[in-house]
Amino acid sequence: MSDRTRALLRFHVRRYGQYKENELAQLSKESERAARAHGLVERASQRRALNVSKKSELIRSVKGTRDLLPPETSLWQRVEDEARRVFAAYHFQEIRTPVLELTALFARSVGEDTDIVMKEMYSFQDRDEESLTLRPEATASVVRAYIEHSLYNQGGIHKLYYLGPMFRRERPQKGRYRQFYQIGAEVLGSDHPVIDAEVMEMLVLFLERVGVREFALLINSVGCPRCRQEYLKVLRKALESVKTNLCGDCRRRAETNPLRVLDCKVEADQPVIEKLPRILEHLCPECRQHFDRVTGELNQRGIPHQITPRLVRGLDYYTRTTFEVTSGALGAQNAVLGGGRYDGLSEMIGGPPTPGFGFSIGQDRLVLAVEQAGHLKPREALAAYVAWLGEAALAPAQNLVRELRRGGWSVEIGYEPMKLKKSLGIANKLQARFAIIIGEGELAGGRYQVKDMSTGAQEPVEPARIASYLKEKLGAIV
Ligand code: HAM
Repeated sequence: MSDRTRALLRFHVRRYGQYKENELAQLSKESERAARAHGLVERASQRRALNVSKKSELIRSVKGTRDLLPPETSLWQRVEDEARRVFAAYHFQEIRTPVLELTALFARSVGEDTDIVMKEMYSFQDRDEESLTLRPEATASVVRAYIEHSLYNQGGIHKLYYLGPMFRRERPQKGRYRQFYQIGAEVLGSDHPVIDAEVMEMLVLFLERVGVREFALLINSVGCPRCRQEYLKVLRKALESVKTNLCGDCRRRAETNPLRVLDCKVEADQPVIEKLPRILEHLCPECRQHFDRVTGELNQRGIPHQITPRLVRGLDYYTRTTFEVTSGALGAQNAVLGGGRYDGLSEMIGGPPTPGFGFSIGQDRLVLAVEQAGHLKPREALAAYVAWLGEAALAPAQNLVRELRRGGWSVEIGYEPMKLKKSLGIANKLQARFAIIIGEGELAGGRYQVKDMSTGAQEPVEPARIASYLKEKLGAIV
């Protein structure tokens, strides 16, 4: 294709979007061939997707994504608040990275032969032909940001945490979505084994704070590139004789990336995989020492854990420690969180040597576990509903509502005049803890009736004292 043809085609695509089939007739044969070869022609399926066939047809959310509605969102917030509180106590600070990254970031770090990169990423060609991806995970992004902003020049250790949506095109089921949410944390700048144990200690505290007590902490080491090479030789050899009994993916991976065979989930493959050599028996002395120190530290902190030799995790960047927390209450998708050490990741994406360790919690699954455990409740939605009776009560009622809201209380008021019965019905429906009744008698007596909606008991309280009355009864601000 000549430079001129290329320039013309690109100009058209930038200006008007991709060519439609019926526009191709206007092009020369050379341009038409080039437009097709370079993917500049809009496919029929794309065109259909852009056509909203019937205006009245209901447009639904995308498969594998979902809306989170109140009151469930309140539980999500509580989990997030608790995470921020616990992480801050361990001196982590928040980082926010873009949802959109260059595809190469994940191909290089997560690994080209992983399920995530091969099958699950939402990648697309941008108008300038750059390949972009909706992040399937955030560790690579955090390390990219660390390098891009030269945080290593500040010296010392960086402890960063993040919350937000991730995207993987997996088969949706309970606890598995195409847009899901992670709460994660990364420690960059040290390979000390105490970091691994301290981060797991923080996680255990966090799970305790959100009321999740039934879980298992699984831990393993995948060694360093040096000892892993040796192990891979042994593993490849063992796979030679058994790979014909494994699934197609495993047969391919036995050649391309044998470690991935260990996290195959195909039922029929499991007895064969169980008998393969274990990486823990092939660690070099330094990796063995690291692993022993991590498990020793966990013991010293009284944190129960199970050594799980097959836990290699589905991402290629791990070195040494890998770990997961599973919860029996969750069914098939039982991994609440996963993480590990990734001492070579920074170099993989063009940065200076920077050891790292971190984890990501699947927030969707965590919230399910929190709901089942039932210790953490959604926040009380409403402290008080103010029921005013008669026009004369409206202004005093609005003054009270404003004052209580300024004090941080969650308060609602009706906008239309209503009978008492109807107001109390609304207070009930909104699950207000108290109804504050202001009628002619209350205005004359200078004290408003405060009714406890759970017991029905009510008592008169001076307007100026209502905030402290709520505090006495409810404790924390609602
Ligand atoms: P990961 O194991 O791929 O690790 O994901 C971590 C957690 O995210 C999983 O344990 C699970 O709870 C949740 N998760 C993953 N996929 C889905 C899905 N489709 N739907 C719902 N939840 C899901 C990572 O992402 C690494 N970045 C963890 C890490 C951080 N390693 C070091 N630092």
